[in-house]
Amino acid sequence: MSATGESSPAIAADLVLRGARELVTMSAPPAEGLGAIAGGALAAKDGVIVWVGREAELPQAVDLAPDGLDIDAEGRCVLPGFVDAHTHVPFAGSRAAEYGERLAGVSYGEILARGGGINVTVGATRQASEEELARLARLRYDSMLRYGTTTAEVKSGYGLTAADEAKQLRAAATAHPLRRELTFLGAHIVPPEYAGRADEYVGLVCDEMIPACAPLAHWCDVFCDEGAFTVAQARRVLLAGRAAGLGLRIHADELARSGGSMLAAELGCASADHLIHVTWEEIAAMKAAGVVAVMLPGTSYTLGVGFAPARAFLQAGLTIALASDFNPGSCNCENLQLMISLACQGMKLTPDEALYAATVGGAAALRRDDVGSLAVGKRCDFSVLVAESRTELPYHFGVNLVGDVVLGGRVVVHDGVVTHCAPAPEPVPPFARDAAVAAGGAA
Ligand code: NIG
Ligand code: FE
Repeated sequence: MSATGESSPAIAADLVLRGARELVTMSAPPAEGLGAIAGGALAAKDGVIVWVGREAELPQAVDLAPDGLDIDAEGRCVLPGFVDAHTHVPFAGSRAAEYGERLAGVSYGEILARGGGINVTVGATRQASEEELARLARLRYDSMLRYGTTTAEVKSGYGLTAADEAKQLRAAATAHPLRRELTFLGAHIVPPEYAGRADEYVGLVCDEMIPACAPLAHWCDVFCDEGAFTVAQARRVLLAGRAAGLGLRIHADELARSGGSMLAAELGCASADHLIHVTWEEIAAMKAAGVVAVMLPGTSYTLGVGFAPARAFLQAGLTIALASDFNPGSCNCENLQLMISLACQGMKLTPDEALYAATVGGAAALRRDDVGSLAVGKRCDFSVLVAESRTELPYHFGVNLVGDVVLGGRVVVHDGVVTHCAPAPEPVPPFARDAAVAAGGAA
């Protein structure tokens, strides 16, 4: 009511969500309960959240259009859509045979060094048409949506020629509702035709592949590790990526202590990913440079190696993100719910820390402030669990606890089934904040 006794005008909406047992907004950190509202509700218009509060206040505050969407969560828990900041979606072929070999004791690095591993996927991906890669990507994007991921970073890296990397990036941008950030990863490994000539291949990446692929991507990544690229080679690639207007991220210290995380700090990369073999010195440098630590517990699980030191990252004040690393070799899994559970078990994150890292942390790793939480002005991306409380997520593991998913104010998954609605009217790429990311490597 205004001072004159008249009602203040209600906020116009074309979607309301009511009936939630708890609405986990992520507007507060884990130590403060993630901003969860018991009996919370929200309203949105044109895919953007316009009101968040208690359901009791909804009728006064919001005016739902007559043809608007009125969603009843039926006493279940509502979470922001997950933000998966590290995936390798557009690939062809399977490496199931390699999985068996690794279980028998042959290491990932040994398989890569003898020309297997990533090389096998490069062969299959080069053979595949763009249409086939796009078809496979859409199937995987559907699966990600079903598990509650609404924004994903998607890398190339299995083409390793200008034409094949561009083919992968175009396939990754195939029409689909999933929000995407595309990453050029031409420096994934040295392809077989350049064996023994790594520096020459890096020259090709910088002089031909980046100019051809930069218009198709937001980010430039490099696999800086034993058996892949050295720090000096990775620096060349990332500086060329930055010069072409791309934001920077890096695969660092996964297989060995390789210097990648120090390079991330030196260049102000938005994220350094994997980080299994980092020390306090590197953690401090990343903190000082504002690098987000992206942790990939599904990869540690699959490779049977140690987990990244998540508690040390938190102690140092780093922002952490949890991502899937979905790829055909080291983690063939697109289910971020499982990563949350693995992070609790393997990295000793609390359930709330893991949830925060898979939403707010993922958004930070992608330098996006429009996703990962439920607040006025953010994208209307949320999941309705088939559970009353968020505490079920890490605890009831290995199943899909997401029932419905709304992305940009549209129902994209209903009762576990993808609705195949049209993609949200949003350009992919470029995004408006690309200039800011390119200017500083961070926004
Ligand atoms: O992030 N480490 C490099 N790249 C991927 C694995 C890719 C693959 O094995 O196909 C990763 O683990
Ligand atoms: Fe990766």
